[in-house]
Amino acid sequence: MLAILGGGQLGRMTAMAARTMGIRVRVMDPEAACPASFVADETIVGRWDDVEAAQRLAAGADAVTLEIEQIGVDALREVARLAPLRPGVEPVRIIQDKTLQKTWLAENGFPVGPFRVVRSEAELGEAIDAFGRDVFVKIGRGGYDGRGQARIGAADNFDPGQVWRNLGAKPCVVEQALDLDREISVMAGRSPSGEVRAFPAARNHHENQILAWSVLPAGVDPAIESRAEALAAELVIRFGMEGLLCAELFVTRKGELFVNELAPRPHNSYHQSERGCVTSQFEQLVRAVCNLPLGSTELISPCAIANLLGDLWLNGTPNFPAALQVPGVRLHLYEKHTPRGGRKMGHLSAVGATAEQALERVLEAKKRLA
Ligand SMILES: Nc1ncnc2c1ncn2[C@@H]1O[C@H](COP(=O)(O)OP(=O)(O)OP(=O)(O)O)[C@@H](O)[C@H]1O
Ligand SMILES: [Mg+2]
Repeated sequence: MLAILGGGQLGRMTAMAARTMGIRVRVMDPEAACPASFVADETIVGRWDDVEAAQRLAAGADAVTLEIEQIGVDALREVARLAPLRPGVEPVRIIQDKTLQKTWLAENGFPVGPFRVVRSEAELGEAIDAFGRDVFVKIGRGGYDGRGQARIGAADNFDPGQVWRNLGAKPCVVEQALDLDREISVMAGRSPSGEVRAFPAARNHHENQILAWSVLPAGVDPAIESRAEALAAELVIRFGMEGLLCAELFVTRKGELFVNELAPRPHNSYHQSERGCVTSQFEQLVRAVCNLPLGSTELISPCAIANLLGDLWLNGTPNFPAALQVPGVRLHLYEKHTPRGGRKMGHLSAVGATAEQALERVLEAKKRLA
């Protein structure tokens, strides 16, 4: 039995991969009707800091993994006492707080852009000035899809007190805004036996700070590709992780490579691995946490995804038949029953002869939904 902390779409797709391999699945989520509940054997309802629910999740499980990093540290410790928690408490404790994560990356010699951790309104004001008032301010805990972030541009009028209070008056990371050429990510897996495999890099495009599309291969300079893959492998080794780690990376116009942030779990930018890689990220996670041999991460075909946000449902069900007419395209829905603006409801995927073709197909299909 594989237990998963979190029952969102990542948990759902992990559960599907596990079931395909004959492994029973139990999930824990605050929502009884969460996306993973429809494919899991058992769903335990509990909040992310519910130690008692976490105990019930872990009891009798062969391994416990997670699909969201915002799990209370006490709940994580309790799970780890009862069953092998993969990735492990420490990597999740560090990654779930951007202030700890950025500091850990810098202290361990990984390349990160200029940043400061700030703990007061005064420190925030000083940091914004120090970086020429061209920054991203990110809350330490709980931000995602651009939530919990403030972008301050050189020409903006702003009041540091307002920014501090809007972000909850809690420790933040202030980052210099980088001049990006492109964004890529690399997923690496590590099994309890120490076997490590990295996937080829994916190229990612964000709109309103939410991932809009992603494509494999990334089509970056081979030197950057190999640095990126080596970086992800080094990260899982340094953390001593068991499971998956995705590194979101920035490539600047000067050709520098920086780590933006880490995710100790499957990642939206590798959904297309289900279409184009020998082993999908979800199967790789199941293999890693169930102590099975890791699968080949080789790319069989260029592939891409485009996210479907709740906004597409504003005028009723999107025109899926029109999208599915595009060759190479498939539809993946997460069974979320209430579409909301910015909420990830599903994605379209496509394969193609080239990365450009896979991306064109998935974007054409998405256009036809309206
Ligand atoms: N220092 C920076 N310089 C330039 N762009 C940035 C910087 N920090 C963030 N961004 C932009 O904002 C996006 C979201 O930032 P980040 O990944 O830190 O936030 P998040 O809310 O945790 O995102 P998600 O959960 O979607 O991964 C980045 O992918 C990038 O497009
Ligand atoms: Mg991000």
